Amino acid sequence: MNANEIKAYSNGKKNGVKVFVAGSYEALSKKAASIVAGAISKQPEFVLGLATGTSPLGLYSELANLNHEGRVDFAGVTTYNLDEYYPIDPANDQSYRYFMNKNLFNNVNIDMDKTHVLYGQAPDWKEECAKYDAEIEALGGIDLQVLGIGNNGHIGFNEPGNDFIWETHRVELTESTIEANSRLFNSADEVPRAALSMGIGNIMCAKQVVLVANGPKKAEAIKAALEGQITPWCQASILQLHPDVTFILDEDAASALEEYKAI
Ligand code: GLP
Repeated sequence: MNANEIKAYSNGKKNGVKVFVAGSYEALSKKAASIVAGAISKQPEFVLGLATGTSPLGLYSELANLNHEGRVDFAGVTTYNLDEYYPIDPANDQSYRYFMNKNLFNNVNIDMDKTHVLYGQAPDWKEECAKYDAEIEALGGIDLQVLGIGNNGHIGFNEPGNDFIWETHRVELTESTIEANSRLFNSADEVPRAALSMGIGNIMCAKQVVLVANGPKKAEAIKAALEGQITPWCQASILQLHPDVTFILDEDAASALEEYKAI
């Protein structure tokens, strides 16, 4: 594929997950940004669900470019992030609040008071989670949720396990996630052992979902999510049941797919 190319993939079934494969990370990010910006432009009072991680960094910088070019306006946008480490000081440069300010919120014309990240120092995490869910519900739910995916198929911090947990909750991180996320800390010992995360219900109730993934480490998780059984052992697999999901991948992340083919 050439670097600017985007191919639509299909598994031949109707109403399936929409899959696009891009020839480069830049093309993937531009495609994702055009979907998100297009949705915001249709509905100025917009509730946008956001993800952290390295995968959406290109999307966020493209959104900032579009904002500077006057092609998308964040003035009426309210955001809710998927997750935050717990405990963590929001001023810590490893917190997801810090990440969002640096990589998106400081770079667009959003009202900071309309940006929401779970508070990593909440004295009572149950109260913090319940308040988050109530606020989202009061706004009529999330219009579009951006997702990345963990190497183990997690979305937000919904880790593989016996259940799909529906509402915002506290999570004990798995060793594999601590290990994967330690690349952003000085050492694995510094990675918080827990997090607060939106649940699968928050994500499934979003009207639209856009998942971005790149690199070979994501190939197995993407295959399990799109072509595997729907199981809490791959939390992203539940997205097969969502009516409006788009996966935007690079060729490496798409490389294990067998049922989905370029059309
Ligand atoms: C973290 C986040 C997820 C993110 C995942 C993948 O654990 N909680 O929301 O999708 O990592 O991160 P990356 O995009 O850096 O691979």
